[in-house]
Amino acid sequence: MTDTVRFLLDGELVEVAGDPTRTLLDWLRYDARRTGTKEGCAEGDCGACTVIVSELEGDGDTIKRRAINACIAFLPMLDGKALTTVESLGGSHPVQAALVEHHGSQCGFCTPGIVMSLAAFHADGGGDRAAAKDALAGNLCRCTGYGPILAAAESAQSTPADIDPPGLVEGLKALRRTQTLALAYDDPVTGTIRRWFAPRPLEDLAALALIYPGATLLAGATDVGLWVTKQRRKLAVVISLSEVEDLNRIEETPEGLRIGAGVRYADAFDALCCLYPGMDEMLRRLGSTQVRNSGTVGGNIANGSPIGDMPPALIAAGASLVLRHGNTTRALALEDYFLAYGEQDRQPGEFVEAVVCPPLPEGRIFKLYKLSKRRDQDITAVLGAFNLAVEGGVVTGARIAFGGMAGTPKRALACEAALVGQPWSWAAVEAACAALETDFTPLSDMRATAAYRMTAAKNLLRKVMAEFETGQPIRALAHG
Ligand SMILES: Cc1cc2nc3c(=O)[nH]c(=O)nc-3n(C[C@H](O)[C@H](O)[C@H](O)COP(=O)(O)OP(=O)(O)OC[C@H]3O[C@@H](n4cnc5c(N)ncnc54)[C@H](O)[C@@H]3O)c2cc1C
Ligand code: FES
Ligand code: FES
Repeated sequence: MTDTVRFLLDGELVEVAGDPTRTLLDWLRYDARRTGTKEGCAEGDCGACTVIVSELEGDGDTIKRRAINACIAFLPMLDGKALTTVESLGGSHPVQAALVEHHGSQCGFCTPGIVMSLAAFHADGGGDRAAAKDALAGNLCRCTGYGPILAAAESAQSTPADIDPPGLVEGLKALRRTQTLALAYDDPVTGTIRRWFAPRPLEDLAALALIYPGATLLAGATDVGLWVTKQRRKLAVVISLSEVEDLNRIEETPEGLRIGAGVRYADAFDALCCLYPGMDEMLRRLGSTQVRNSGTVGGNIANGSPIGDMPPALIAAGASLVLRHGNTTRALALEDYFLAYGEQDRQPGEFVEAVVCPPLPEGRIFKLYKLSKRRDQDITAVLGAFNLAVEGGVVTGARIAFGGMAGTPKRALACEAALVGQPWSWAAVEAACAALETDFTPLSDMRATAAYRMTAAKNLLRKVMAEFETGQPIRALAHG
């Protein structure tokens, strides 16, 4: 049986059938004629398409609101949720008034998205200027800058507003599904049937993954969305992981923090930052608020990109994966998951169920450094992750991993070997820097040259030592 996608728009029930890989932005502009939501880039970068998606947290009555990019969200991802667009605000929201007052309405492309990001920020209780900057990091303005917009963000906070339509909690409860959402679409262009499944129980997901071993598994769509909008790929079968409750849990286990593969960055943020120093800075620079409200740690790992930020960080931390194939699960050290560029240790029908993040033993030196051309919302050129045990002035253990230095996220084994057993000194650091030449032969691409990458990787290790010596973050380093 084929279902329809059901969601609330301004409190009214909407039912949509059709292509399940149609984007929410496309539907908003062409069917709903809500053209206030703009298309700037169609790849999650500019924020012109920002909307707010609301859902109930667990079984309770609390509403969770998220600003997301409609351009890379597929329509079925809205099923059971509520949508707020710039039209929903009706021109009278405090952030709209504040933007007018502070001359923050600069161009018609960006302003609706900026309004929506600020409305979500406002609904969440707002925050200081730094928090407002984070809320806006996914809204790119190329004309006059952010001064008036930030002023508006701050001044709007004193005026309360409710963006939820009456009866939202009851409306959302009425939309709850206990069974798999199953969509089938007869594509007139390709003459094939395209399918979308959003199972609820983990067992149903595991069974579907076996029935359709070639299916595209989908978490937050912050990578997969671009396959459709930019590469024009046709996805024959999509299995969404987002509605599987077991995958949306964060649990303490004897091995460490178990983060389900469906947990979004925004929801894992606090727990990860408590575990690992430097994670807050790295996560704040991973994508934007909109990307972190959709994207998952599991998707970042499963995607297998050599420039994903979480893999090197979690490899250095000693994390492991739980992979499920049918009723069978296996544990795998995260570093062993990445076999070669575009190749991971995952069989057809198998999926990542969780990542297990161990706590750091007392006294570890743990550092994460992300280098990218732009500070916010930019893909990494080089990411260095360092986890060192130093006892009595001697390095007794080292886990060092890099992103952007090879075809996979990879441990720097020669570099580690050059450090372990040595006094923690500049001489050992220089020897370990030299060993990085054995570990990596980086490539040149649009993000960085090979020479830059190698020099930067060495300097990041030197930075670990410099920060250890001074006890201070080092912004610029003259050494070497
Ligand atoms: C504007 C923008 C900025 C970004 N910035 C960054 C950045 O700074 N750093 C960074 O690292 N990334 C960045 N990304 C990439 C992306 O956000 C991350 O890779 C994200 O973690 C992917 O998670 P997702 O849930 O959206 O995955 P999806 O797009 O849903 O899936 C990604 C891949 O993983 C597979 N997959 C997902 N879940 C599972 C699972 N449980 N088991 C098996 N396979 C699975 C999918 O089939 C697909 O191949 C950015 C993306 C955008 C659009
Ligand atoms: S259109 Fe640019 S982020 Fe969606
Ligand atoms: S507000 Fe659109 S480019 Fe600045």
